[in-house]
Amino acid sequence: MGTGSACWNYCSDWRVFRPWEMSMPVLSSPRLRGRRSLKPTPPKREPLGGTMDNASEHVPVMREEVVTLLCPSRRQIFLDCTVGLGGHAETLLAKAPADSRLIGLDVDQDNLDRAAKRLARFRPRVKLQRANFADAKQVLDRGGVEAADAVLADLGLASSQLDDDRRGFSFSVDGPLDMRLDDRLEKTAADLVNTLGETELADLIYANGEERYSRRIARAIVSARSAKRIERTVELARMVAWAYPRAAKRSRRGVHPATRTFQALRIAVNDELGSLEALLRDLGDLLAVGGRACIISFHSLEDRRVKHAFIAMAGTGRAKVLTKKPLVPTAQEIAENPRSRSAKLRGLERIE
Ligand SMILES: C[S@@+](CC[C@H](N)C(=O)[O-])C[C@H]1O[C@@H](n2cnc3c(N)ncnc32)[C@H](O)[C@@H]1O
Repeated sequence: MGTGSACWNYCSDWRVFRPWEMSMPVLSSPRLRGRRSLKPTPPKREPLGGTMDNASEHVPVMREEVVTLLCPSRRQIFLDCTVGLGGHAETLLAKAPADSRLIGLDVDQDNLDRAAKRLARFRPRVKLQRANFADAKQVLDRGGVEAADAVLADLGLASSQLDDDRRGFSFSVDGPLDMRLDDRLEKTAADLVNTLGETELADLIYANGEERYSRRIARAIVSARSAKRIERTVELARMVAWAYPRAAKRSRRGVHPATRTFQALRIAVNDELGSLEALLRDLGDLLAVGGRACIISFHSLEDRRVKHAFIAMAGTGRAKVLTKKPLVPTAQEIAENPRSRSAKLRGLERIE
């Protein structure tokens, strides 16, 4: 991860694996040329799961913008819904007055442990809890906190998760087809891929991945799994690439054909859109009057929901939108951290 952000987007994975260039039974091997206007030096590959040191080096996405919007210079109770590697939390606490407090949530125990280490110097002021942000209201209620002055949600995956071959999030490296952010969840991506009916699978890939070739992909998966259960990331990535029309592979210029299918499965396994909708529904009650929220999203399915929820809250007169258009990373941030390039940040203030 190095100086990169914890926030990964599948499309910005520079280590594009090209399974369709490997021998496949029927298709030939078209080579896709990745053309990018910015060609940053790829970050160094890190050990499985990252390390604590990586966590302390990690620079969070759009840090300056988050600081400006959440005004940590005054005393606050912060609610970091996605504490991850603790990058944003550390920045906010370092800038806030000493009597400010932070409640950090994450569903991933490994990341909570990393965040705890990184935030150790602020210890009495930090409370970390393994919880889904869909349940943030109950977490505050149980902790006797009426509302937060600042709420942050930096959606998606941390690089510690995507880089860990054992978690199965990346099509770039071989691993079990798992994709659970919270390892207490029952169903893995392999369970979905091997049990859903063809139509259900196609609908899932279309709805969560906006993948126009969802039917072809679902057909290929169902046909392949009749011979053998699909268990590995690379198996699935190859299958999707194989099902993809050749012209579409060529026109997508280096974006892996499995990008949208992997996104769709990850969203389904973790019910990411359901959790986001629950958070947005409760946001008005999570925020104290005068409190602010920042939500950073990484794809249009998330951003659309955030945008419409903010507009709806503003329409009730309870809140005002702070970002008419979403803020996006500067060219410099993208050059330094290509993984940030699809980030969109929206801000809201509760006024009543
Ligand atoms: C992009 S990372 C956050 C990085 C963090 N802002 C930082 O600076 O280190 C997203 C984190 O949110 C967590 N997460 C995703 N969905 C969640 C949910 N519904 N509830 C709680 N945590 C979630 C992931 O496990 C991951 O650690």
